[in-house]
Amino acid sequence: MTLALAAPLPLGTHEVWPPVVLAPMAGITNVAFRRLCREQGGGAYVCEMITTRGIVERIPKTLKMIAFAPDEDFRSLQLYGVDPDVTAAAVRMIAEENLADHIDLNFGCPVPKVTRRGGGSALPWRRRLFGRIVAAAVVAARPAGIPVTVKMRKGIDNKHLTYLEAGLIAQEAGVAAVALHARTAEQRYSGTADWDAIATLKQALDVPVLGNGDIWEASDAIRMVEQTGVDGVVIGRGCLGRPWLFADLSAAFAGRPAQALPTLGQVAAIMARHARLLVDALAGERHGCADFRKHVAWYLKGFPVGGEIRRALAMVSSLAELDDLLDRIDPNLPFPEEALGQPRGRVNAPGKVSLPYGWLNSRDDDTVPEFAEMDNSGG
Ligand SMILES: Cc1cc2nc3c(=O)[nH]c(=O)nc-3n(C[C@H](O)[C@H](O)[C@H](O)COP(=O)(O)O)c2cc1C
Repeated sequence: MTLALAAPLPLGTHEVWPPVVLAPMAGITNVAFRRLCREQGGGAYVCEMITTRGIVERIPKTLKMIAFAPDEDFRSLQLYGVDPDVTAAAVRMIAEENLADHIDLNFGCPVPKVTRRGGGSALPWRRRLFGRIVAAAVVAARPAGIPVTVKMRKGIDNKHLTYLEAGLIAQEAGVAAVALHARTAEQRYSGTADWDAIATLKQALDVPVLGNGDIWEASDAIRMVEQTGVDGVVIGRGCLGRPWLFADLSAAFAGRPAQALPTLGQVAAIMARHARLLVDALAGERHGCADFRKHVAWYLKGFPVGGEIRRALAMVSSLAELDDLLDRIDPNLPFPEEALGQPRGRVNAPGKVSLPYGWLNSRDDDTVPEFAEMDNSGG
């Protein structure tokens, strides 16, 4: 039995089932992490943010980040751009070189380095520029049948909300869906996501709406669909150190009970696999293990594992060392239930949004902001 209120999410000719999307997360959702999550359940799995300029200028580091596994049948690529022409050129290149099956546009990044120059979550305020960028991407993607989606925040702050207008502009431009991380840029990752705003956006649009923010368990995803009527959910921090959340989500949307929570031994096996996938993806044991370190605390959250092993794992530099350390923890420890439903990953304080001089005074100015494409740190 499938959940009566949820249907597959159409993105172009592709149907995403369950209607669950792994949120793009810079430094996290690389080919290794996506594979780990994909092995657990269905859905769409978005890569790390890629800059349009990096693509157009064929910057080797950027092109290397566009890595999909041969069995990724729906290659979701997130693009960050501020210039309609550069965005169009990047999308044309993606289409002509068959680099992706779906393009998501990032208008949610709250990082000061980006907003200070008018990029990311600052950009929808300049509604004409926003519309031109989205339209440029849609038009360039159309001949290849690549669906384009937009991911945005509620606005800059509570006095400068943009999501409803931006949703309508994106719909008018021809996007396949709109995703809302229901926080303002000012909130960054603090407080709670405003699911009422997601419901309001859903009411206002005809294209599918995806809700994002504070889904920590599969039951939260179902609750979001029930409360807001959204067509799908986007999951970011909830799956950090818990790729099996996608199995729980698949079960929940199919109306099946969740699988048993993993013991520490089962978590350790996933950690060992994650590290190996990273070693393969990053072409080297040293790089792969160094990248794996950031995941250690998320995997062990709530488990009574001593500080010494935790510290050693967080500095691991080879797979042999990792295996040795993982052998030293008690595999029979049950999953710590108190860690369920709890925030993980970034939970920082709100902060005033840095913007270019005069940004808020001229909504219809569609001048392309300068130097706003330098950062790669996501949103
Ligand atoms: C480490 C990290 C990196 C992120 N990078 C991006 C990014 O590159 N592009 C983007 O649109 N959002 C990015 N985000 C935001 C997430 O996609 C998501 O919108 C946000 O975490 C809220 O969802 P959640 O409550 O499920 O975590 C990032 C979030 C985190 C924690």
